[in-house]
Amino acid sequence: MLPSQLRGRLRIPAMAAPMFLVSGPDLVVETCKAGILGTFPTLNQRTAEGYEQWLIEIRRGLGNADCAPFGAQFGIHHTNPRQAPDLALAIRYQVPLVITTLGITRDITDAVHAYGGLVFHDATTIRHAKKALDANVDGIIAVCSGAGGHSGTYNPFAFTTELRPLLGDKTLILAGAVSNGQSIAGAIASGADMVSLGTCFITTHESMAPDAQKAMILESTINDIVYTDKISGIGASFLAQTFSRASESRGSHGVFDVAREISPKLWRDFWSAGQGVGGINSITSVTELCDRLAREYGQAVDRLTATAVAYAKRLSGAHHHMPDYSAEDSMNSESGSVAPAPEAPATLAIDGAIATITLNRPHAFNAIDPSISICLESLAQQIEATEQLTVVIVEGTGSAFCAGGDLQTITGDTDSLETVLGDMISHYHAFIAALRRMPKLVITSVQGSAAGAGLSLAFMGDLCIAADDARFIPAYGRLGVSPDGGGTIGLVGAAGPQLALRIFLAEDSVSAAQAFAWGLVAKVVPAVDLKAETRRLAERIAQNSPAAIAATKALVYDSGSRTIEVQLDAEKRSLLACTGTQPFRANVNRIIEARLNR
Ligand SMILES: Cc1cc2nc3c(=O)[nH]c(=O)nc-3n(C[C@H](O)[C@H](O)[C@H](O)COP(=O)(O)O)c2cc1C
Repeated sequence: MLPSQLRGRLRIPAMAAPMFLVSGPDLVVETCKAGILGTFPTLNQRTAEGYEQWLIEIRRGLGNADCAPFGAQFGIHHTNPRQAPDLALAIRYQVPLVITTLGITRDITDAVHAYGGLVFHDATTIRHAKKALDANVDGIIAVCSGAGGHSGTYNPFAFTTELRPLLGDKTLILAGAVSNGQSIAGAIASGADMVSLGTCFITTHESMAPDAQKAMILESTINDIVYTDKISGIGASFLAQTFSRASESRGSHGVFDVAREISPKLWRDFWSAGQGVGGINSITSVTELCDRLAREYGQAVDRLTATAVAYAKRLSGAHHHMPDYSAEDSMNSESGSVAPAPEAPATLAIDGAIATITLNRPHAFNAIDPSISICLESLAQQIEATEQLTVVIVEGTGSAFCAGGDLQTITGDTDSLETVLGDMISHYHAFIAALRRMPKLVITSVQGSAAGAGLSLAFMGDLCIAADDARFIPAYGRLGVSPDGGGTIGLVGAAGPQLALRIFLAEDSVSAAQAFAWGLVAKVVPAVDLKAETRRLAERIAQNSPAAIAATKALVYDSGSRTIEVQLDAEKRSLLACTGTQPFRANVNRIIEARLNR
């Protein structure tokens, strides 16, 4: 998973990799401003003093703007004379992310952790990754085959599969030929927490690479990338065209040495790039590149969701008679582009920090059936993994919010009933659990009837807003079943045990006005205004910082199971963690400045 220092601070799960002779302050500042973590190698400055100047320049460039953190990379090797002075400066200037390559020791991670910084380590083998984990790094950058610079030889799927269980909660960053948003989504889907992109940043205006190297990358394809250890003593990827310009023998030393590595000529004569060159077709600003990556990432995630929905339909159809959503076409699309089918049983729309899940079975009053439960689970996973989202609206299309479990699912032969129903509830409950667990505030927006599982859903959100025509119908007891969908958590939390029991077992229907009087809904609004009022509430909540929303939600829900001392301790830890976030610091600075200007 992402460490708390990065959560809510990245636009997409990505960093721009440190690149020798390429990454400098301009590239770092613009990347961070575009919401992607920017980094540079300290050795891009000839002296420790020069590197210190860059740290000052980067801090000044970022100012108080709400942007991603930055990082610096350090070669930890006995031949690197700059190792000690550079690390001392990282500590003095509290560099948020320290990237180590070649070696890593526990005293380095301890020193960085002491000021709240993070350490990610570049690894090309499992043995190197294990050593770094022993030194207590926060994340492993899995440098896979096809990466630019010193690259590994492992296939990213195979490497991720073996690394993931070793890392547990630590961060897995995948590097190697990731040059577009589709590849970022693919890396996340395969188990990485974020990606590191190098080559595609070389061709930005802000990169320090010579124009001729940028032009060569635009013209290159995967075929032009040569992997060899002859140039630097460690396997690295180079643009083949540069071999004809510079004599191979000049760089052919066999044994790796940092001092020789950064001495004039080597990386100047032999230009490096990764196998992702084929997708790089223009020289753009960092902002334009990051916008493209974010756009493509969003489209790829939509595509995955649409595909999951289409397969979910097929899966459910095998068990059960399903209404025809005609998702078949999108699943079999020859072009390979799967449009998010408008007839999907639930849809997701993202606007800034606000996500809206819409139950989309109006012909069945948005009743819960196997297809919608799988779809909702998938959408919740997607939202949970998207850092920039802080508020989630759950709403229904048509005249009803949700009519509860689809009775069509329950009819059919009794032998398979337990399997079909059990399967459906498992998916639906995974959705409900994600809503409660995610560090984002969930608003349910209810019109018309919210019956059975619909009633449970209405109160499993963190806040409920209701249209004046809303009716909460606890259909369970009359049907002869007990509640599901978190009803015994959400409604009990909102109403308390006695009122919850009364609603479940002694009320036929609760009106919006009555629910408001009982304190179960935050607001009742005219039905025609429900969408706009829900949006207004969501926007108001989204004004809080992501860290404040996440910590407040966790503290509120955890309070019931803790002693006063434990809860107070948790409050203290959360508050102190929030003070380390950029929005808090910016607010404090603003207040102090306002006082000084009075
Ligand atoms: C021109 C170039 C220079 C690089 N220099 C460094 C470096 O100084 N330190 C480092 O840790 N990695 C360096 N790398 C590797 C990157 O940090 C990263 O692992 C790699 O670029 C990711 O693969 P990709 O280029 O295919 O996106 C370099 C990569 C390139 C292309």
